[in-house]
This record gives sequence, C-alpha cells and structure tokens, in this order.
Amino acid sequence: MATNTLTVIDNRTGKRYEFPIEEGNVIRATLLRQIKASEDDYGLMSYDPAFTNTAACKSRITFIDGDKGILRYRGYPIEELAEHSNYLETAYLIIKGELPDERHFAAWQNNIKIHTLVHENIKRLMDGFRFDAHPMGMLVGTIGALSTFYPEAAHIFDVESRRLQTRRLIGKLPTLAAFAYRHSRGLPYVYPDNDLSYAGNFLSMLFKMTELKYRPNPILERALDVLFILHADHEQNCSTNAMRSVGSSHVDPYSAAAAAVAALYGPLHGGANEAVVRMLTEIGSTKRVPEVIKQVKAGERLLYGFGHRVYKNYDPRAKIVRRLANEVFEVTGKNPLIDIALELERIALEDDYFVSRKLYPNVDFYSGIIYQAMGLPTTMFPVMFAIPRTSGWLAQWSEMVRDSEQKIARPRQVYIGEELRHYAPIETRPEPTQREDAVSTEI
Ligand code: CMC
Repeated sequence: MATNTLTVIDNRTGKRYEFPIEEGNVIRATLLRQIKASEDDYGLMSYDPAFTNTAACKSRITFIDGDKGILRYRGYPIEELAEHSNYLETAYLIIKGELPDERHFAAWQNNIKIHTLVHENIKRLMDGFRFDAHPMGMLVGTIGALSTFYPEAAHIFDVESRRLQTRRLIGKLPTLAAFAYRHSRGLPYVYPDNDLSYAGNFLSMLFKMTELKYRPNPILERALDVLFILHADHEQNCSTNAMRSVGSSHVDPYSAAAAAVAALYGPLHGGANEAVVRMLTEIGSTKRVPEVIKQVKAGERLLYGFGHRVYKNYDPRAKIVRRLANEVFEVTGKNPLIDIALELERIALEDDYFVSRKLYPNVDFYSGIIYQAMGLPTTMFPVMFAIPRTSGWLAQWSEMVRDSEQKIARPRQVYIGEELRHYAPIETRPEPTQREDAVSTEI
C-alpha cells in the first residue's frame, strides 16, 4: 500500500532514511540534516539559488496554478473579482480572508480614507529630491521614513497596531505616489479628496489642475480600479519575499514595505511594465518585430513582459489587461504601441522558442500601454504596481507574524572561498593575480 513517505538511500554510507511527505507535496528540508557521511558531518542541505523549488511558508492568501493559468485570492477567481469587485473590497478580502458585508465594508472604506493625508514633513522630504528623481526611489525613501513618524509600529505583535499600520499604508500609498509624480512635474501637490473612490482620488491627486473639484472619467476610474485588483497580490514573488524576509527580523512594517518596494523596482519584477514600454517605443514599428524576435532567440535581448517563474500558460491577469486596454482607448484614443505589442505576441506565440519554453505575456506586457494612454510617464508605471500590491504585502506580512513556524529568514550557503590563510604585512604581499573568480583588483 502506498504511504506518504519518501525513502532515501545514501550511497556513500548505504544508510536508508524515510521522510514524511506533508500536505502540499513537501518534505521538510531540515530532515536532510540527518543524512551524514560521517559523525562530524553537518548533514545534507538542499541547494536552491533563487528559491525555484523551495516553499518558504504556508499561506492561505493567494492560489496560483501556473500550468492552468489560474489565480485566486482567498479562493475567489481573479476574473470574478475583476468583473464584480473593487480594489478596496478586494484588499479587505486579501487582508481579512472574507468578503465584507455592507457594514464592515463601509467601516473599512472609512478607516482607509481617514489615513490618506501624510505629515507635512513628508512633503518637505519629497521636496528634497531632485526634479528628475525616479518616483520608485522616492517611494522607497518616503515609505521608509514613515516608520519614524509612527514609532509604535514597532509593536508588531500587537494586533491593533498591525491593523492601524495596514490602514495607514493602504491609505497613504496613493498620496505618496501622486506627490512623487507632481514633484517630477514641478506641480503643486494635490491633497486627497475623500469624496472620491480610492482610484478616483488617486487620479485627482495626479491630474487635478485649477478646477475646484476634479471629476475622474468613470471609465478610466474603473479601469484603474481593475488594474489595482489584478495587482493586489501574487503569493511569494520577489517583493513579497522581501517583505516577509525583512519583516522576519521583527522590524516595523514601513521599513519592510520600503524593502518590498525596492524589490519591485527592478526590471525583472514590477519595473517590467516600464521596460516593456521603453522596448516597444524603441522597436517603433510592427515591421521590426521579426528582427526583434530573432534577437531574443539569439539571447541578445529579453522580451520584457514575457515569461514568468510560475505561469507556464497565459497569465490570467494579462488577458484581462489586454481587454481593458481597448476600453481605455475608447476614452484616451489608441496608444499606437498596442499594435506592436499585439504583433509581438502573435509572432512569439507561434514560435517554437517561446512555445517550448512556455513563455506567454505576463501582467506587465499590456499594463504600461494603458498607463501611458492615461498620460502617465514610464517612470510612474512601477509605482502603479506598488500602490495595490501594498495590501498583498501587508496580508503576507501579517500572516508571517502570526505563523508560529516562522523564524528570522536566514538561508544557508555553500562556502567555496579560500581555506584558512594568515595575514601578511602589506609590503610583503605579492602583486594580486587576476584570477577569473577573484575579487576585482580594479581601483
Ligand atoms: N525573453 C526571452 N527569453 C526568456 C524570457 C523573456 N522575457 N523569459 C524567460 N526566457 C527564457 C530564458 O532565457 C530561459 O531560456 P533557456 O532555458 O534557454 O536558458 C527560459 O526562458 C526560462 O527562463 P528563466 O529565466 O529560467 O525563468 P525565470 O523563472 O528565472 O524568470 C522572469 C522569470 C519573469 C524573471 C523572466 O521570464 C523574465 O526575465 N521576463 C522578462 C521580465 C518580466 O516581464 N518580468 C515581469 C514578471 S510578471 C510581473 C511580476 O510578478 O513582477
């Protein structure tokens, strides 16, 4: 009869080990430590750079089936949420585990809205950045700075403190993001308008000029809200892993969220939407698409917005974003980059290089085209990702704080450096040789 165990035979010693296979098809990596070639041996470790096959937590928040292209928050399919929900309701679901009833939703909305203002000193901090500062850099700095305004946030095991910081961060992110944009344009900051929806208020803080009341276009407001829903969480991605890893030292959530934003900034993660639009602009015409595909296949360039560590099928978010683009273009006029993107997708999906590697468009392939059509500069695109992902980061952080199995994140290494050697006075040292693996001797 089949048992849920894994039998391992160490051919160095002939010893046999039996390890339980736990829920989720996992074995505990620490069990490998029993496998030793000799008594003073440390025991086996698993080697997994980039965590390609290592589960670092148990989570109830987001489910992805990468082969089937399925994404669910707390069990709800992303397609249903994008169709019927709104960002703040989805954030409630992600953070609290259930959809709210009317009373709880009204209270939640109010609790977020009362935290949309930031301390005036944060505004002054923003002023200190150069006019061309990247808004993601500004976001990393100002979110980190918030920890100094709310020192009680250090009480991470106090549930009320966790709740308060969660509302504050979700409430303030659009304000910080919009201030970063206005700073780059040399425009006065626009204070939050709490009569508007979460997305509508953000549009107001971005684009309001001299009118007394900004009225967001309802189609753009809804499109932005849907984009926020789609970006709210994505289980253990690079930035969430940063949030959990930094948070595992028990630092306050603002400091951990600053680290998460920094992780998101990179072009392989949330910065990919910016990289896609730069790439499409550089390509410039559908005629150049075959040449670009050739360069990608030759390993000369990446096709940004394609491929995913988990999805080996069409990213379900990308399907929704592609549809959304047409709705936005009805209002803004068509962004001509969409034609190049569609042609790239068409050719790539017929090409064996992409088919055999299961490379499909991901969420970043079409989102930047929408943001550009809405009038945002490319540097703001990763910021548009950071705003909604804040709810996911906080839900994951809170889950980690409450998880008794979690400890400070501290991976092991395989040391491949020098054996013991002894310090020699500088005048007696030989000229450093330039080995391929040596530390650079460049000055
Ligand atoms: N263009 C060309 N080739 C690619 C691409 C791409 N975008 N992505 C993967 N490949 C190739 C890669 O070279 C490798 O080929 P080979 O087996 O011949 O060495 C194979 O596909 C497997 O790729 P990998 O690099 O091992 O996959 P990974 O899981 O380490 O990387 C990824 C995932 C998203 C970093 C990568 O696909 C990539 O760099 N994509 C472009 C950047 C991007 O769009 N990032 C946004 C991700 S979705 C939003 C988010 O969550 O941040």
